[in-house]
Amino acid sequence: MIGYRERVEVRVNQDFKMGTGNLNTYRDISRPANSSIISSSSAVQISEQEFGLFRQLIYNKSGINLNPTKRNLLQTRLAKRLRQLKCESFSQYYRYVKNDTTGEELIAMLNAISTNLTKFFREEEHFNYLNNTVLPELISGKHKNGKRRLRTWSAGCSSGEEAYSLAITILTHIETTLTWDLKILATDISTDILKKASDGIYEEEKINVMPKNILSEFFLKGDGEYNDYYKVKPVLRNIVTFRRLNLIDETYPFKGRFDFIFCRNVMIYFDKKTQEGIVNRFYNHLEEGGYLFIGHSESLSGVKSSFKYVMPAVYRKDEGIKI
Ligand SMILES: C[S@@+](CC[C@H](N)C(=O)[O-])C[C@H]1O[C@@H](n2cnc3c(N)ncnc32)[C@H](O)[C@@H]1O
Repeated sequence: MIGYRERVEVRVNQDFKMGTGNLNTYRDISRPANSSIISSSSAVQISEQEFGLFRQLIYNKSGINLNPTKRNLLQTRLAKRLRQLKCESFSQYYRYVKNDTTGEELIAMLNAISTNLTKFFREEEHFNYLNNTVLPELISGKHKNGKRRLRTWSAGCSSGEEAYSLAITILTHIETTLTWDLKILATDISTDILKKASDGIYEEEKINVMPKNILSEFFLKGDGEYNDYYKVKPVLRNIVTFRRLNLIDETYPFKGRFDFIFCRNVMIYFDKKTQEGIVNRFYNHLEEGGYLFIGHSESLSGVKSSFKYVMPAVYRKDEGIKI
């Protein structure tokens, strides 16, 4: 007779197999399309002047402020685009990007240069603070005023680990999503990375930082050749909405306000002026008493805003609130 545990695993694995075609997409991500090895000596070199042109273009379009030491890095990251488009020089590729009126090559270029390093429950002090202070306070306040609406935003979400970590944290505090209007917005400038985030499939080594009970509650284990992969369950996937959004845009297209915003390890690439614009837009899109979390290697010092400092890398909109 098949045991309960075995039966559950069989069903889970079947669900995973019967997914919506995401596995093929995942395979694309895990095995880069162009796996041919081209020796670095044959790669097209970027001149100082060309680097200056790209630096300005990238700054204007994404806010990313590449410092002069990043010349080789930029050359490496764009080399594949040059090969794919058969461009013989960086100047030729620059003209191609500038003349592409669809804007698609600009997106492809920004995809190529984005740094997407992330992980589940990264900078765990923030999740401890959410667990011990922010969520208990927020949820009891919402219970009192009868509003069961909770909104949060992972800005610069990369491949989705941060947004799903937020979803897991929130779900362990509320009884059921049925009685709550809960939504997590997750945005990034890179369309490639958003595709991966939306698929929600991760290698075992990225997932096993989480306790076993969290794994079995929120992830499906892959089967057969997908044995080393896990996929987020619909209970998580359904409360996260992934969208492309460029943080340097002058306005953000949201009507409602957020209870807290995570924008971590993103603004580090921007200069103070760009950071100031973003931080002030965050302020306007937060509820009164709402929190902004930034990366621990970032700071708002030198950035003019009305945020109040709470603790390292945590700020609050507290026009009337005493902390
Ligand atoms: C290092 S990852 C940080 C991921 C996650 N927040 C974390 O802390 O683990 C930085 C992300 O910011 C995104 N990014 C860079 N410039 C951006 C912009 N102008 N608008 C939106 N996202 C941007 C990148 O594509 C990348 O995925």
